[in-house]
Amino acid sequence: MPPKRTKRDLLSIADLGADLGPVLKRAARLKADRRRGLLRPSLKGKNVAMIFEKPSTRTRTSFEVGIHDLGGHSLYMSPKDLQLGRGETIADTARVLSRYVDAIVYRAFRFQDEAELAQWAAIPVINALDDREHPCQIVADLLTLSERWKGKFAGHRLAWVGDGNNVHHSLLLGCAMVGLDLASATPEGYHPDPSIVSAAQDLARKTGATLTFFDQPPEAVRGADAVYTDVWVSMGEEAEQSAREKAFAGFQVNSALLAGARPGALVLHDLPAHRGLEITDEVIDGPTSVVWDQAENRLHAQKAILEALIG
Ligand code: CP
Ligand code: NVA
Repeated sequence: MPPKRTKRDLLSIADLGADLGPVLKRAARLKADRRRGLLRPSLKGKNVAMIFEKPSTRTRTSFEVGIHDLGGHSLYMSPKDLQLGRGETIADTARVLSRYVDAIVYRAFRFQDEAELAQWAAIPVINALDDREHPCQIVADLLTLSERWKGKFAGHRLAWVGDGNNVHHSLLLGCAMVGLDLASATPEGYHPDPSIVSAAQDLARKTGATLTFFDQPPEAVRGADAVYTDVWVSMGEEAEQSAREKAFAGFQVNSALLAGARPGALVLHDLPAHRGLEITDEVIDGPTSVVWDQAENRLHAQKAILEALIG
């Protein structure tokens, strides 16, 4: 039996609970402080292990730079360089790393592995993406929207067009937590996990957010203040590429679809983008695209998350 732990993990964005608002405020402050050269070493003396089972450009770089900016130290570990790759158990790895470092950032193929690491680690485990959620991404996305909407989520409507995947799951929960209306269009066979939808609906009842679901993208996008999409084929799903490209054929975010949203509707994508598939060049490079802000905000959001968990 794993020991009882008092530490705090971030496996789901819902784990932030009432701290999501303060984390967003702190992230905005950290962003301003970085620009003015006023960052304080709030992670001085802290070591953070980063285990990545899959590739990463944004998550890895923003965690490494963010930890360094705040005076901490990060250690990037590929499972093939760890004994984990030779069969050492996740539980034993968790117990050993807990004796050296203050937190583990983990990008995993399977949510079960993420949960097992967290169960055995005596230190916080932060989900850097798994097959169920991508919580750090959504904290950065909410920061991005909050910047554009002067801190107000209520009264705005976000549309999701695409796969009911890890990013969509965290977005459902995150929107529900901050009171942002989310209209989702996902193709048959690629709807979000009903257990996440139900958890998000429970959270939405408390904030007044409405979560609505459609089969066709134009229905979700109608009247939206922002439109968010993600890849059709996530990491680990490469074998399903051709089936997915067929199923998602009508789910491209292009100018015609965007014309159904509010004038000036923002465009979001967590990146990497597959230009010409889920999104067209003219839309991702268009005047209302905030994708580079989303990418930058990973840096500030993750600093605020780390401070909340180990600062
Ligand atoms: N959005 C995101 O998580 O990107 P990476 O896979 O490059 O980390
Ligand atoms: N849904 C995508 C997100 C990439 C950041 C994936 O899991 O590959």
